Amino acid sequence: MKHIFLVMQQQTLLAQFVASVNSLSIAANRCGQRGMRNCCHRSNHSLIRQSNKKHRLSVCCQHRSFSNSPSITSSIAAQTKKKMAAEYKLKNITSLTDIQNFEKAESEVEGIEGAKVLVLRLYNEVHAISPRCTHYGAPLKIGVIQPDGQIRCPWHGACFNIRTGDVEDAPALNALHTFDVYEKDGGVYIQGEHDAIKAGQRNPNVACTSTVISPEKVVVIGGGSGTLGAVQTLRELGFKGTITIISSEPNLPLDRTKLSKALIADPKKVEIRPREWYQSASIDVIQNEATAVDFSKKVVSTKSGETFPYTKLVLATGGIPRRLPLPGFTELSNIFVLRFITDVQAILGALGEEKKNVVIIGSSFIGMEVGNALSKNHEVTIVGLEKVPLERVMGEEVGKTCQNLLEKSGVRFKMSASVDKATPSSSDPNKVGAVHLKDGTVLPADLVILGVGVRPATDFLKDNSVITLEKDGSLKTDESFAVPGLNGDVYAIGDIATYPYHGPGADPDGGTLTRIEHWNVAQNAGRGAARSIVHSLSSSQPLKSQTFIPIFWSAIGKQLRYCGSTAGGWDSLVLKGEPENEKFAAYYCKGQSVVAVTTMQTDPVMVKCVELLRRGNMPTKQEIEEGIDVLALGIPKNIRI
Ligand SMILES: Cc1cc2nc3c(=O)[nH]c(=O)nc-3n(C[C@H](O)[C@H](O)[C@H](O)COP(=O)(O)OP(=O)(O)OC[C@H]3O[C@@H](n4cnc5c(N)ncnc54)[C@H](O)[C@@H]3O)c2cc1C
Ligand code: FES
Repeated sequence: MKHIFLVMQQQTLLAQFVASVNSLSIAANRCGQRGMRNCCHRSNHSLIRQSNKKHRLSVCCQHRSFSNSPSITSSIAAQTKKKMAAEYKLKNITSLTDIQNFEKAESEVEGIEGAKVLVLRLYNEVHAISPRCTHYGAPLKIGVIQPDGQIRCPWHGACFNIRTGDVEDAPALNALHTFDVYEKDGGVYIQGEHDAIKAGQRNPNVACTSTVISPEKVVVIGGGSGTLGAVQTLRELGFKGTITIISSEPNLPLDRTKLSKALIADPKKVEIRPREWYQSASIDVIQNEATAVDFSKKVVSTKSGETFPYTKLVLATGGIPRRLPLPGFTELSNIFVLRFITDVQAILGALGEEKKNVVIIGSSFIGMEVGNALSKNHEVTIVGLEKVPLERVMGEEVGKTCQNLLEKSGVRFKMSASVDKATPSSSDPNKVGAVHLKDGTVLPADLVILGVGVRPATDFLKDNSVITLEKDGSLKTDESFAVPGLNGDVYAIGDIATYPYHGPGADPDGGTLTRIEHWNVAQNAGRGAARSIVHSLSSSQPLKSQTFIPIFWSAIGKQLRYCGSTAGGWDSLVLKGEPENEKFAAYYCKGQSVVAVTTMQTDPVMVKCVELLRRGNMPTKQEIEEGIDVLALGIPKNIRI
């Protein structure tokens, strides 16, 4: 029980920590001015950039947070704030002393219809912030406050700095507003601008308006999650060189995770940022396909014949869905994969208006999500190799719960099944008409969707003499996602990166090399690569990389959340809650160590476990079996991975 902190003990320790950090913050060129707005909270992060002499701004090496040198900036900011801000009374909070350490209270704002703020206490500081996560709008009142001044969203783990509202962890991209909060005349008030309170979120600071022209050229190949994390973080950290995205997708970066859950065919509905955003951040987005990289001359070649020189290159080309090399599958039409919006358009085109027989091959996440989405209007059969869907990743019990959920929506399953061939339709010999299984079952199919995995999209590097791809086609990287042997000038992120994972269960000597296909992992890797690039421009010392616990989510009738990694293996599962009512937390264990957690309808257990895994305070398997409540545990201040 040694590692289980009682909350009160922890608070005392942490109060001492705050005091020590506050004294550290006076030290020149160090990030850590905890009590001040617009300053980073970590005392061990150097302030790496004097980006603008007039305003004397420095930027933390790890975060986008700015640390203001005395006063010109802060006084301008204070004056502007004063001019714009007005005082608003909070309807539901009468005293700040009622809010205990690490507690939160949401309140309506008098005089602004529908507006709310979240007031929270961190030791002796009380803060007021926008109340909803900027990703999909989760209520932060059930988020998890961390002792180093962040709040983590209960749904998919986005992390915001409580003092500045800045995003510190994917998948959110917009920041929160923060407001001054105080007691007066028996009430609680905030100072804030009407529109900011109402909007509940703000764009990150990405404008690149410096007159200083930097010769640095970052080229990012790919237009997905990793790219978004990289380019936004570069600008937030004050990178003043050119940024060029080369993407083969016909649309701007979009929320790929929605494609299989809602089959949205209109790119405008899922593009994450409008074109004007890239323009305002001076980021060029070029639709083209990279065909080769000359790593010695530092030039990317493209299909159109154009070439793009770089000083730093970020490879973020994601995955290519696999197809089945079986009879019928290579030649017949109406057999689809699902990665891009063009795939969704093709699937919806083939489905038309009438009820169709849809056979989905593969019972992992893509197959399950598409099956769930199509079950409302079509006859769906999912074919899987395993005994139950998702078995390899989630285990039999969780997989069975997910299967039950989809069966309730009318989806049929053919599990422990191998596919033999596809045969043509009797009405059109070019189109698929049936899928044959090895046990002799014939499944009528108007269309087939393959969800049988992806391989890294690195074909354009296959014959490159400078780098060697891993067996699976991915690129090996170090902790900061730099590709070894290329002077720290080339990074590989997202679905194409095999990187050393250091979380629980990983090899304690150097980590376990793993490739993880999660939206958040790609975006956090992009953020990490950007930090590393910016750091390298002002320092010859390596930057300590900021590690993270992988987070994944899925929607299969109910929301499924997952954190951690089983890259180092798992040997048992402890299931708590009511799986029969789709309300549970499943703990994946390797020996006595919990290495990953899946939850359904038990928020914020998953994100609480992220912090416990990250900070080495996750209970043992035995403690979980004995019924320990993870939500009641304290979160230590030190990050252990
Ligand atoms: C339908 C679907 C649903 C998903 N749902 C979830 C989910 O709910 N939760 C979750 O955590 N993860 C989910 N994932 C996984 C997640 O989307 C990926 O892990 C993530 O997108 C990887 O990001 P990335 O930047 O590495 O690659 P991607 O987002 O795939 O982006 C790769 C980009 O590179 C471009 N590209 C490829 N080759 C070239 C080239 N040669 N030249 C130029 N451009 C090139 C592609 O066109 C694309 O724009 C889902 C994936 C899919 C396909
Ligand atoms: S809603 Fe907050 S991370 Fe998704």
